[in-house]
Formats: sequence, structure tokens, C-alpha cells
Amino acid sequence: MKNNKIKIGIAGLGTVGSGVINLLNNNKDEILKRTGCEFLVQCVSARNKDKARSCDINNINFYTDPVDMLENEKIDIFVELIGGNDIAKNVVMRAIEKKFHIVTANKALIALHGTKINQLSLEKNCSVLYEASVAGAVPIIKVIKESLSANKIQWIAGIINGTTNYILTEMLLSGKNFNDVLDEAKELGYAESDPTFDIGGIDAAHKLTILASICFGIPLNYDSVYVEGIEDIDLQDLNNAMELGYTIKHLAIARKSKYGIELRVHPCLVPNSRLLANVNGVKNAVVVNSDAAGPTLYYGAGAGSLATASSVVSDIIDIGRNLSINSKKSTPFLGYMNNMVAEQEILKISNIESRYYLRIKVTNKPGVLADITKIFGKKTISIESILQKEENEKDVNVPIVLVTHKIKEQNLIEALLEIENLEVVKDKIIRIRIEELDS
Ligand code: NDP
Ligand code: HSE
Repeated sequence: MKNNKIKIGIAGLGTVGSGVINLLNNNKDEILKRTGCEFLVQCVSARNKDKARSCDINNINFYTDPVDMLENEKIDIFVELIGGNDIAKNVVMRAIEKKFHIVTANKALIALHGTKINQLSLEKNCSVLYEASVAGAVPIIKVIKESLSANKIQWIAGIINGTTNYILTEMLLSGKNFNDVLDEAKELGYAESDPTFDIGGIDAAHKLTILASICFGIPLNYDSVYVEGIEDIDLQDLNNAMELGYTIKHLAIARKSKYGIELRVHPCLVPNSRLLANVNGVKNAVVVNSDAAGPTLYYGAGAGSLATASSVVSDIIDIGRNLSINSKKSTPFLGYMNNMVAEQEILKISNIESRYYLRIKVTNKPGVLADITKIFGKKTISIESILQKEENEKDVNVPIVLVTHKIKEQNLIEALLEIENLEVVKDKIIRIRIEELDS
């Protein structure tokens, strides 16, 4: 068997970087049997040389500056696992200038700078692979770009942030409070270095930007995604949803219709009968609905050291296999011929139609519900069901939970503005979309 030696440089030795080094070591023999290649980590970069690491970096050249590493080392593949988008972008562009192939797990980098990175990589004839950037261990990028390449994709919906799914699951099942569970997710290495990216939905929006481009052949455009996080979700909403037969999940949805493409990331009530409602903890799952294959489902660990390393190393292996046969990359960066990637109409969130869960805090007085339903009536919003906890005491604040029929979001926005101005309505109204995921 031919034994090719592929030289690797890795920038970032945190949760994912250390996982990559451990996985390449642990499964060296298996990888050699599968690929005929020996993958050697020649150099690494991290901020602090003296920090205790959960991987063995003895005998590997260490740099505190990743650019220094690129200038001084001759490698085949540069693996970017620093995160963020400033330093990471400069380092990756420099690595491509040096004609190194790129593997990254950085969704912010691809979503925000992927177009420029791709342009330079075409000039320099380098591969840029990013399987780990969406859904951790779940090989969703390759599936869409390669395995489903004969299909027109109609919609994709998924749980693609492990931290928020871990928080929602733990709050419901263990009754723990939001901040305690977030601390656990940080401890477990799931959260971004700035966890507001997770809980604010930004991380999921970076990932949806990537998914939408590879599903529909549109340019990467983070700004076109509508984003809501889970900051306003309360234990009472999780419990109310259960009582109604739903589970609250933070979903990313891209759907193509004759009017345009919906791109949105927000919490949703998902019927308990759907598989996505039963995806718990740090697990991610993505449903892809396409014309020939129909619905297909992909499930697995959305974050974590070895789980994410599995996807990073699979990209390293893909490049290594190509290098060992002197082959050029064949799958385009976004899975569409570069000159075929084109803008399509993106729908405003106010134009989507949905059913809604609403929690309205009101003063317990006769006639309150009538005042609210009158405003809904004016906006042609009809109520499907009402959940009201018994409260005998007058003039105390109580929550009313309403479920609407399918309505246009713009009508709901207008109605809620009016309702929030009623004297008996206390606090902002909690509004969560209901996704049936059935068509
Ligand atoms: P960590 O914060 O655990 O690690 C970041 C690493 O980068 C650290 O080793 C740090 O050095 C190094 N670093 C930071 N700034 C610099 C710099 N200026 N120069 C050189 N090195 C630097 O991040 P993760 O491993 O969690 O994430 C890495 C990437 O993978 C991110 O893009 C993330 O979004 C993505 N990702 C993460 C997943 C996860 O489960 N954690 C899953 C999927 C993707 P030092 O150790 O010395 O501080
Ligand atoms: N912070 C991310 C998450 C890491 O929780 O899903 C994986 O991309």
C-alpha cells in the first residue's frame, strides 16, 4: 500500500483543536487503513504555550502567532480552530495565499467571509472544507452538497445549536434555571467563546446562512436571516407547551416557495409527535425535504470535542485522499457551480404565515379577554384555543395563553402592539411560532 504523508498545521487547541489531535492519534491505524495516508500534525498555534492541554503536543512545533506558523512551516493542510471572524479570516486568507488547503469548523467565518475566501481559493487552486461548521458530528454539509445533489431541495429545518437545545432540555426535564444550565454548557465546551452568540440565535443564523446557500445555490448572506434567540423563553412556556402537546425547540428554517425563500431562526412549538421534538440535550437534528428523496433526517452530537473533531478529521481525510492521487477538488465550495450561485428573493418575516402561541400577562378583571379578542377580531386573527389557569383573586396579574389559527405575521404584530397598550396588559407579550413541519 502506498503510504502518503500529509502535513498538517492546526491553529487553536481548545475544545475542538485538542479533539482533532486526540482523534488523529487514537485512530491513526484505522485512518491509515481507510486512506493509505499518514496525517502528521507538524505545527500548532494557541495563545498560551504554558496552558495545560487535554492533548499531547510534545514534539509538535508550537507558535503563539498563527501567522508566524504559516510563514515558517511547509504544510499541506491548515486547520483553523480559533473561532471568531477577524483573526480567523486574516489567518485563513494568508494560508490560502501560501496555497495551503483549508479545513475549518468556524461558521461565523464561512457565513460572513465565505465568498471572499472561496474567490481566493479558486485563484490559488486550494480546497476549503467546513463540515464541522454546522451540526458538529452530523455530516450535513456533505450530505447536501454530494449525497442529495440530484435533488431540488424544498425546505430544511433543524436544531443546529447544541447549547440552546441543552438549555431548553435541561430547564424542562430538571427544572434548573437558565443561567445554571448555561454555565454547564460552557463547562462542557459546547458554548461559543461569547455565549450570547448561542442564546441570541446568532450561531444558528451563521449555520443557516451556510445551509441555505448549499441548499438553494444562493450567495452567503448572513444579514438576510431573521434571528431570535431563547432569552425570553421561561419555564412556564416550556410547561404550557407540554400541556398543549408541543415541545419548544430553537429551530433554523429555510423554505423555498413560489414567493421567495424564508430564512429564519427562532424558538418554535413543535408537535410532540415530530422527531425534532424529541431531540434532546446537545444533540442536533436536521430534516431536509427534497423532491426526489422526500424527507430525510440527520441526527447526532451538535458540539463537543471528539464529536466535532470527527467532522474536522473527515475533511482532512478528503483533502488527503485527493492529494495522494494528485486530484483536484471536484465539489464546488457551495455545492453549485460557482458561476451558477445567484441571488433569489428572501421573504420578510412579516410576510410569513404561521400559528402562534401567545402568553399575555393581564390583570384578573372581568372583560379582559373580551377586550383582547376584539382587537384580534379587527385583524382577522382567530383563536384556536385558550389556556387560563384558575385564579379567584381579583386584580392580581395572571397569564393567559392563547393559540391562534394560521395568520400573517404582519397582522399579529399590529394586533399585539394594540393589545400591549391596554391598561390591563402587563409586560411584553410572549409570542412563539408553531411549526407543524408537515409540508
Ligand atoms: P476554544 O475557545 O475552546 O479554543 C480556541 C483556541 O484558539 C484556544 O486554543 C485559543 O488559545 C486559541 N486562540 C484564540 N485566540 C487566538 C489567537 N489570537 N491566536 C492564536 N490562538 C488563539 O474554541 P472551540 O474549540 O470550542 O471552537 C473552535 C471553533 O470551532 C470555533 O469556530 C467554534 O465555533 C467551532 N466549533 C466548536 C464546537 C464545539 O463543540 N466547541 C463545535 C463545532 C464548531 P488558548 O488555548 O491558548 O487560549
Ligand atoms: N456553540 C455551538 C453549539 C458549537 O452550541 O452548537 C457547535 O457549533
